[in-house]
Amino acid sequence: MRDLSSVLALLPVAVLLALSWGMARQLGHPRGWMGRRWMSRMLNDANRTMLDAAVEAVDARSGECIVDVGFGGGHTLERLRPIVAPRRPVGIEISEAMVDAARERWGDAVETHLADVVSLPLADASADGVISVNTLYFWPDPAAALREIRRVLRPGGRLVLGVRRPGMMRLVPITWFGFRLRSAARVQDLLRAAGFDVRVVEKVQGELTFVARVA
Ligand SMILES: C[S@@+](CC[C@H](N)C(=O)[O-])C[C@H]1O[C@@H](n2cnc3c(N)ncnc32)[C@H](O)[C@@H]1O
Repeated sequence: MRDLSSVLALLPVAVLLALSWGMARQLGHPRGWMGRRWMSRMLNDANRTMLDAAVEAVDARSGECIVDVGFGGGHTLERLRPIVAPRRPVGIEISEAMVDAARERWGDAVETHLADVVSLPLADASADGVISVNTLYFWPDPAAALREIRRVLRPGGRLVLGVRRPGMMRLVPITWFGFRLRSAARVQDLLRAAGFDVRVVEKVQGELTFVARVA
């Protein structure tokens, strides 16, 4: 009887860890019905402040080519549409569910590609700006990813990289499963090594926005 009560006492912890594992998988690569219907809305709501800050920081103009790598629910694409018109914003995603949801929502009004950040389907120096928010944690080779982003940016082009502070993130059990958390100094080193000039914009609520220009 005592054994059973010890097992039952651990149940909430096991449930918490199982839910955190499932959520971490969805955040890194939304899949299926849950990805399409639920994650896209949840990501837009949970990350709205960071996404708005990124759109502001990329400082887009009419007719510019602005790309969001790992656009998730696509809040940035919605915000960018009237700003870059008559051009269309460009969204890159490794998740089929996110690309499907974006195509269902915007049709051809947004240019979407199913692709990995390390192999972008864009020509050299073809983009004026790139946004990528809450994605760096999931890139196994961030140096290769940043070099690839630099390749598609024109000279003087802007990269806006949004991440949450690792200290705060480590307290959330979801990040114990597959997240690669990097300090602000490490992110700046990676950006400089990829050939960017870097400025850091610190925001409230544990967010960091790096604004980097092709050096
Ligand atoms: C936590 S979500 C963030 C979505 C959105 N940027 C936001 O902040 O709400 C991470 C997104 O990055 C995408 N992603 C992860 N690894 C990627 C990669 N290697 N190339 C392109 N997209 C990737 C995932 O599919 C997922 O939609």
